[in-house]
Amino acid sequence: METQVSATVVQSPDGRPPKADGEAAACSRHFFLAACLLTLVNISVVIYIRVIMHEQETSLNKVTAENQQLITSRSILQTQRDNLNWTLGAILKFDTFPVNVYCPQKKCQSCQTGWIQFQEKCYLFYENPAPWKTWPQSREFCQNKTADLAVIHNLQEQEFVTNNTKFYFDEWHGYFLGLFQTADKNWVWVDGHNDTLQYWVTDKLQTPDTNGTIYALLIPNRNVTANWNRADDKFQNKFIFRVIMHKQEASLNKLTAENQQLNWTLGFILDFDTFPVKGYCPQRKCQPCQTGWIQFQQKCYLFYENPAPWKTWPQSREFCQNKTADLVVIDNLQEQEFVTNNTKFYYDKYHGYFLGLFQTADKNWVWVDGHNDTLGYWTTEALANTRSCALMIPSRNLTANWEEADCTAQNKFICESQALRWSN
Ligand SMILES: *[C@@H]1O[C@H](CO)[C@@H](O)[C@H](O)[C@H]1NC(C)=O
Ligand SMILES: *[C@@H]1O[C@H](CO)[C@@H](O)[C@H](O)[C@H]1NC(C)=O
Ligand SMILES: *[C@@H]1O[C@H](CO)[C@@H](O)[C@H](O)[C@H]1NC(C)=O
Ligand SMILES: *[C@@H]1O[C@H](CO)[C@@H](O)[C@H](O)[C@H]1NC(C)=O
Ligand SMILES: *[C@@H]1O[C@H](CO)[C@@H](O)[C@H](O)[C@H]1NC(C)=O
Ligand SMILES: *[C@@H]1O[C@H](CO)[C@@H](O)[C@H](O)[C@H]1NC(C)=O
Ligand SMILES: *[C@@H]1O[C@H](CO)[C@@H](O)[C@H](O)[C@H]1NC(C)=O
Ligand SMILES: *[C@@H]1O[C@H](CO)[C@@H](O)[C@H](O)[C@H]1NC(C)=O
Ligand SMILES: *[C@@H]1O[C@H](CO)[C@@H](O)[C@H](O)[C@H]1NC(C)=O
Ligand SMILES: *[C@@H]1O[C@H](CO)[C@@H](O)[C@H](O)[C@H]1NC(C)=O
Ligand SMILES: *[C@@H]1O[C@H](CO)[C@@H](O)[C@H](O)[C@H]1NC(C)=O
Repeated sequence: METQVSATVVQSPDGRPPKADGEAAACSRHFFLAACLLTLVNISVVIYIRVIMHEQETSLNKVTAENQQLITSRSILQTQRDNLNWTLGAILKFDTFPVNVYCPQKKCQSCQTGWIQFQEKCYLFYENPAPWKTWPQSREFCQNKTADLAVIHNLQEQEFVTNNTKFYFDEWHGYFLGLFQTADKNWVWVDGHNDTLQYWVTDKLQTPDTNGTIYALLIPNRNVTANWNRADDKFQNKFIFRVIMHKQEASLNKLTAENQQLNWTLGFILDFDTFPVKGYCPQRKCQPCQTGWIQFQQKCYLFYENPAPWKTWPQSREFCQNKTADLVVIDNLQEQEFVTNNTKFYYDKYHGYFLGLFQTADKNWVWVDGHNDTLGYWTTEALANTRSCALMIPSRNLTANWEEADCTAQNKFICESQALRWSN
């Protein structure tokens, strides 16, 4: 093999076959050169391989690092998502959500007031006065609040929980944990895993005289690794509950999108003083507009169509404001067209729908959001100029259907609010 290679090498520089004359010397010299070249090639191959290997190693390390970072960002995103979702879930339990109470300065507490956070979970120690609750009652109480009785996974959690319990009534009373004995005598946590900690009291372990299920109770003021006792299903105690966080596998993109959507929704809610949950999120599913409102682009509109008596302009505005909205502000021709399309002739040709447009003391027509009107879609009839509220008259020319009206006249009206709409 080597000679063949060297021959090729020898021949190639000048492209002529080797001469018989002085062939040996030339050959040996050439052979040496060839060997040299070969060695060089070998070395460079080795070096090249080394370089490649080094690069691979580097890129492997890089991939590993990137991967770790991905895992980290994912778990951060997951936590954020869960927190946002949890917050949203908590908000949606209200009929109207008092934003200022729970989320002062637009920051919502990660655990509800009264709950204590430990690591990524929220705990509540039920401290109401007697009558306390049996284990089944305690669990139902927790589950009604989309939580469950506390599950203890390790010594830190046991220490945290123990630290937050206080002696009450007598040495037999304590706090129920989410731990019970199954029919086949295994101690199982409410999340389904077998107990391996077994922090049972050593001196006064109860063996309840019952054919029913036996439950675990944490007794305060005892050794942290020996403070659980047993109770039957009649014994009433305090208890500890913990919010269940829904951890689920999801891709970064999905999580990011979910986070943005949740964050946006939350941002939308936090812009209110009180958020009408029932209106926007019936059955805890949020929709862009409150029930009965019509969406157009980024806004929701309510066309007040109740029978007489209708409302004066100030009453109309109060009605809208009571629904965390205001009288409609028309910003452009499309909106004017949409609004016009949704008004219907009623009563007589002088009646219409109040707009959020009124005349100030210095005779400027100003919208309720504070900006001067520039559209001026007034009817062509002579303007009385003594009437200070704008009314849209149905069945008129699209660009000439506003009329000056008496603010104390009673009319239908149109409310407008932001749409709870996520667009990415
Ligand atoms: C958000 O929480 C609700 C319950 O409040 C749950 O049904 C839903 O699956 C959660 N969504 C995510 C993405 O975790
Ligand atoms: C749980 O909720 C149900 C239905 O709302 C109610 O009947 C029950 O009394 C609640 N239980 C507890 C312990 O609060
Ligand atoms: C429990 O309390 C002890 C003593 O006050 C303290 O050293 C420990 O850090 C606390 N542990 C937890 C998990 O709260
Ligand atoms: C719990 O322990 C019992 C008995 O050791 C076993 O049969 C059962 O499969 C275990 N359950 C779980 C969820 O590990
Ligand atoms: C347990 O069941 C047995 C047989 O059914 C019965 O005789 C006994 O009284 C029960 N004990 C309790 C404490 O309910
Ligand atoms: C708590 O119990 C453990 C195990 O039985 C023991 O080692 C420890 O000394 C006890 N601590 C106290 C404060 O009694
Ligand atoms: C949520 O949105 C606010 C602005 O509305 C922004 O400051 C914040 O960083 C966002 N948070 C997340 C987790 O996306
Ligand atoms: C607005 O709400 C207040 C307080 O709930 C109420 O007294 C008033 O009648 C409401 N106004 C209208 C126009 O619905
Ligand atoms: C208004 O109604 C007309 C005629 O029905 C229709 O062509 C137009 O698209 C509607 N405009 C809006 C903004 O709803
Ligand atoms: C509205 O118009 C009046 C008169 O032209 C002017 O004095 C006032 O500053 C304007 N207001 C706004 C908010 O632009
Ligand atoms: C509506 O008014 C505009 C401008 O005055 C005019 O050009 C148009 O012909 C009118 N349309 C109708 C249907 O009256």
